[in-house]
Amino acid sequence: MNGRIAIVGGGIIGLSVAWRLAQSGWQIEVFDKAQVGQEASWAAAGMLAPGGEVDADSPMAQLAIESRQLFRAFVDSLEAESGVSIDMQEAGAIELAYSDDELNKLQHKAMVQSGIGIRSRPLAPKQIETFWPRVRRDGLAGARFYPGDGVVSPREMVTAMKIAAKARGVELHEGRAVTAVHVGDAYSDVMTYDSDRRFQAVVIALGAWSSALLVSGVPALPEAYPVKGHLIGYRQPDQTCSTIIRHGHTYLLQRANGLLVVGASVEHAGFDRTVNPETAEVLAREAAQVFPHLAETTPSQVWIGFRPGSEQLRVGPWHSPRLQLAYGHYRNGILLAPVTADRITASINANLRKQ
Ligand code: FAD
Ligand code: GLY
Repeated sequence: MNGRIAIVGGGIIGLSVAWRLAQSGWQIEVFDKAQVGQEASWAAAGMLAPGGEVDADSPMAQLAIESRQLFRAFVDSLEAESGVSIDMQEAGAIELAYSDDELNKLQHKAMVQSGIGIRSRPLAPKQIETFWPRVRRDGLAGARFYPGDGVVSPREMVTAMKIAAKARGVELHEGRAVTAVHVGDAYSDVMTYDSDRRFQAVVIALGAWSSALLVSGVPALPEAYPVKGHLIGYRQPDQTCSTIIRHGHTYLLQRANGLLVVGASVEHAGFDRTVNPETAEVLAREAAQVFPHLAETTPSQVWIGFRPGSEQLRVGPWHSPRLQLAYGHYRNGILLAPVTADRITASINANLRKQ
């Protein structure tokens, strides 16, 4: 087995774990049923946003805050090892309120967040008008600014990670679905349609597909399920949206290449890959509520992805150090990639010796 570890699933989570473990001296093989990084990790908006996304304290909230702190160094190191430049913006986020009720909710959220170390400050309508001139003023009651939130391009991260992982000797088996895993006392087996291979440990990083895998030798895996999201994109001039802008369930952000991304629906529709024009229209209407000028424009892109839902985030061993779980990242898997990679690497290094 020679210090070999299998990573099952090559989204941003599987690739991050693979890269970190390879840096630690393990021989890594990644198995993906298709091309790596083409599912949720391709679809994601890429917000690094405890301010926008965290409403209450939880183990996931704590990991999100920790991972946000790790992110800049993670991206710097990824750029250095891959030679790929990654669009990462650290300009913060604003969340808008168009009624006193919405403003009160933002204040309550800010109070809860300050108790867990997420900073924000209030903005008056006049400040929003000055610094975010395209935002709808009509009925604006105020906003909060989250200075710690940021944005990254998930697709550039995956491209970079693939190169960095390969440069560290990681073997990528694309187009190889794993059909089953068996966890033994001294090894773990990974089965595909035509092979049965033995590893020192296996990491399950299948996102929304994680609990569909047949696993024996340990109790059944905790459930994972897909939560579909539609996103739309507009071609817009640079600096149209220099921070994340949120209102209710809607968020807007702009990539360095000009694409203005608007998200997102939250749908419990199984693995239905249909792109629904009506859902895209709803997003377009919500976007125009924030940026009225978008009412004159048609989105240039619409796409969907499957968030990996689960009852709780799973990062660590499952009844054996030879089976590590890395799934259930739901709305924050891009943000949580660095901390997930560090935790799984630490668990394997602490419990297994390279044989
Ligand atoms: P995935 O990227 O889905 O990867 C799973 C991999 O497993 C796939 O490559 C798949 O091909 C492979 N696979 C499946 N079955 C098998 C099998 N049997 N054998 C081998 N391989 C298999 N997160 C953020 O942090 N910020 C955001 O702004 C954000 N926005 C989002 C917006 C939307 C609309 C969506 C859908 C998600 C968003 N997310 C965001 C969440 C984020 O995308 C996910 O949490 C993250 O990408 C999960 O990564 P993953 O590697 O676990 O899963
Ligand atoms: N984190 C944004 C989303 O999941 O839509």
